[in-house]
Amino acid sequence: MNTHIIKESPGVVIVSSPGRINLIGEHTDYNDGFVLPAAIDKRIYMRLTKNGTKTTCRIKSKGFDSVLIADLFSLRPGTEGWHNYVLGVLNELQLLTQGLKGFDCEMYTEVPTGSGVSSSAALECGLAYGLNRLFELGLDKWQLIKLSQRAEHNFVGTKCGIMDQFSSVMGKKKHAMLLDCQSLEFEYIPTKLDPYVILMLNTNVTHNLATSGYNTRREESATGLNIVTNHFGVKNSFREITPGMIEECRQQLGDVRYRRCTYILEENQRVLKAAKALKKNDILELGNLLYSSHKGQSEKYEVSCPELDFLVEFSKGTKEILGSRMVGGGFGGCTLNLIHKDAVVGYVERSSIAYEKKFKIKLSHFVTAPSRGTSITKQRHDGFKFG
Ligand code: GLA
Repeated sequence: MNTHIIKESPGVVIVSSPGRINLIGEHTDYNDGFVLPAAIDKRIYMRLTKNGTKTTCRIKSKGFDSVLIADLFSLRPGTEGWHNYVLGVLNELQLLTQGLKGFDCEMYTEVPTGSGVSSSAALECGLAYGLNRLFELGLDKWQLIKLSQRAEHNFVGTKCGIMDQFSSVMGKKKHAMLLDCQSLEFEYIPTKLDPYVILMLNTNVTHNLATSGYNTRREESATGLNIVTNHFGVKNSFREITPGMIEECRQQLGDVRYRRCTYILEENQRVLKAAKALKKNDILELGNLLYSSHKGQSEKYEVSCPELDFLVEFSKGTKEILGSRMVGGGFGGCTLNLIHKDAVVGYVERSSIAYEKKFKIKLSHFVTAPSRGTSITKQRHDGFKFG
């Protein structure tokens, strides 16, 4: 990719903020669990300048070809999807600090939207990070992560966990991150996958359930947890319960909550095993864990969909693929495939033909690698002319 150096000019901040993948650990973040994500090399770029007004913010998005004009004194959720991420971040910044004033922002994104690679966190964190620098608000990285998450809860309406915003801000080149979502302690783990690479196959579907299904899963696992912890009189956390305790409450839980709760404990174990495998460069073991993770998401947590299941099943016929699973909230988006680098071209062709034949939808793809987190940059993508 070509990049150019932009001349630094005073009062201009250029920020670059990545999407994320998650090797394993889905829907565990809001359940006090573990995740193993990484920031990716697909990013959103923003150019921010003060515009001299007290409260007027103008945000222009290349990808969406529209302009959002917001007044800092009257922030409320808007009707267009991406506007709420921006308005939500401004609202949270206003609640936390006194320093925000009018600004202009132009942005351009390479992160595919609605694809399970968190274009939303890239946007929220990029904006929060950039404004923090532009107006010298003095917020630290964890404050930026948490306020971006709250923006999504309060203005978008998805009661997301912390994984996406954390990954976008804390990402490191050639590393995944094992995050304990209860203590928020994390460790970087080198991703030495060679000769394997991470191939993302995008189903190009987002089912309506994406937001409502997400919040329902959150409720189901929370009420399930409540039943078990009340029964045993222990602290209300998935970290306090065991498979045996869930088993004992099986009748009370009912089938759905029983499956949700067992999935969480199993997925947490898989994350810890995957982190160990990654440390030992045991890519074969990592691949197997990806497959069992997908099975859990599909059958126990029920966040997959026919298109994702088809692609994961299809991958099993290719010996150069060690593992495959859906990524992110689910109900559409991408599968992540651990594939030998020499097999990528052939496999993309075969899977695209089979997928289109079955669903009459075009498959898209990209190969990605762990990348650095949200940062101030002097570089910009060559394809995007600011101003
Ligand atoms: C979305 C949410 C995350 C996480 C994943 C599922 O991406 O934003 O917090 O819950 O779904 O693992």
